Amino acid sequence: MLFTFFVPLLALTSIHVSANPLDARSIAARSTAPVKAAWYAGWHATKGFPLSSVSWDKYNTLYYSFAETTPDITKLSLTDSDGEMLPKFVSEAHAHGVEAHISLGGWTGSLWFSSNVATAENRTAFVKTVIDFALQYNLDGIQFDWEFPNDQGIGCNTINVNDTENFVAFLQELRQNPRAAKLTLSVDVGLTLFLDATGHPSKDATGFAKALDYVVVMDYEVWGSWSSTVGPNSPLNDTCAVPANQQGSAVSAVKAWTDAGMPTNQIVLGVAAFGHSFSVPPSDAFESHTKTLAAYPAFNASNQPLGDAWDNGTGGTDICGNHGGAGGTFNFWGLIAGGFLTEKGTPANGIYERYDTCSQTSYVYNETSQVMISFDNVQSFAAKGEYIKNTKLRGFTMWEAGGDYHDMLLDSITDAFERP
Ligand SMILES: *[C@@H]1O[C@H](CO)[C@@H](O)[C@H](O)[C@H]1NC(C)=O
Ligand SMILES: *[C@@H]1O[C@H](CO)[C@@H](O)[C@H](O)[C@H]1NC(C)=O
Ligand SMILES: *[C@@H]1O[C@H](CO)[C@@H](O)[C@H](O)[C@H]1NC(C)=O
Ligand SMILES: *[C@@H]1O[C@H](CO)[C@@H](O)[C@H](O)[C@H]1NC(C)=O
Ligand SMILES: *[C@@H]1O[C@H](CO)[C@@H](O)[C@H](O)[C@H]1NC(C)=O
Ligand SMILES: *[C@@H]1O[C@H](CO)[C@@H](O)[C@H](O)[C@H]1NC(C)=O
Repeated sequence: MLFTFFVPLLALTSIHVSANPLDARSIAARSTAPVKAAWYAGWHATKGFPLSSVSWDKYNTLYYSFAETTPDITKLSLTDSDGEMLPKFVSEAHAHGVEAHISLGGWTGSLWFSSNVATAENRTAFVKTVIDFALQYNLDGIQFDWEFPNDQGIGCNTINVNDTENFVAFLQELRQNPRAAKLTLSVDVGLTLFLDATGHPSKDATGFAKALDYVVVMDYEVWGSWSSTVGPNSPLNDTCAVPANQQGSAVSAVKAWTDAGMPTNQIVLGVAAFGHSFSVPPSDAFESHTKTLAAYPAFNASNQPLGDAWDNGTGGTDICGNHGGAGGTFNFWGLIAGGFLTEKGTPANGIYERYDTCSQTSYVYNETSQVMISFDNVQSFAAKGEYIKNTKLRGFTMWEAGGDYHDMLLDSITDAFERP
């Protein structure tokens, strides 16, 4: 009994004597433990990936996706992500010694970030909202997935030229709040820095570095249906590609972020257990007069293939009211279910493959269906794990835990990352 009474008293005391919790946290208390993490998509719990399927023992952090911003600054929404699952997610994580974080925002959940952080008054209100949420669910961390400050994402986000500086001011206020002292704070970021008020990538990441434990660089969706040719979804490197194909990579992102003052041990690499599909006629798919797959072939943009069983399909309307087609996404298990790969993750009989040694990603092609998919295989994940280790990044986070097949990708990146 004495112990349980004593601890809160101590915590209270330290709050009152610490003049600047931000500095205390950034210098002394902040963990530098490696991050081995994945997102858990709540809406897939009833679609074949329940909590019991998570390989908890192989992670130290899981992010529950997503809590979404709402027009009411005092509220976050879990309606699109099976909110009743969140308490179970937290207790399962804790039972396995894993940190349970909420991922806040996402592609469809970022509508109200801009207005929520637009003024000092709103920032204070939103700080209270996210801390209350974290304490209510007994979370260990909050991850902000604002897609994207001062750069319209889904199409109907609130937006303000000062988004990036307002975001930093919000994060600093959150970090300084004693009630958030024990929370791990992270932000999902793109391959370049968030846009400043002039519309250019900011050159200064030090505000984020001071307020956050780490950023997660989302190194995926680099090429897809929006691109002019087929290309790597998740390139490790692109500085070895011809200039036209240098669309960003882990290498370019780490350079951009570290040049702007983000320490490497505060950068976590976001990796993809999925790929994007394209419809490519054989005349474009192969180098002429060969059966060798061509690099960066043209594709038929008016014929987006349907992805795997988790693809949202056609005919839906997104949160902005826009009609969307198929996403065309194949999870790693979906490549196996779809007959592109064997259960060992190698190309199936009759499937053509090309492994691009610059991006360190794979392409598979079914000539009959004319479907080409660029994705990460086991070798790609090993290359990324080795890169994380050699570059002394903080670790990795995989989208999404449920995308893997028998942990083949997870084991590959972990082995490479942890190899002495
Ligand atoms: C501040 O938040 C309120 C919602 O509580 C919103 O109505 C208002 O527009 C926000 N302020 C700005 C400048 O976006
Ligand atoms: C952006 O910030 C500047 C400088 O603080 C301010 O003058 C301007 O009104 C802000 N713009 C918006 C749209 O809030
Ligand atoms: C990226 O490509 C450049 C240029 O070829 C090369 O020097 C560098 O070693 C590559 N980095 C990685 C991590 O592959
Ligand atoms: C592209 O796909 C559309 C829709 O399936 C089809 O009508 C068209 O013929 C295709 N174009 C080529 C060049 O194959
Ligand atoms: C389906 O998902 C893709 C991303 O995978 C998205 O671009 C598209 O808008 C979604 N369609 C609908 C109807 O939600
Ligand atoms: C290629 O696609 C065709 C048509 O959809 C399908 O019948 C065939 O099984 C596929 N090939 C492989 C190896 O999966």
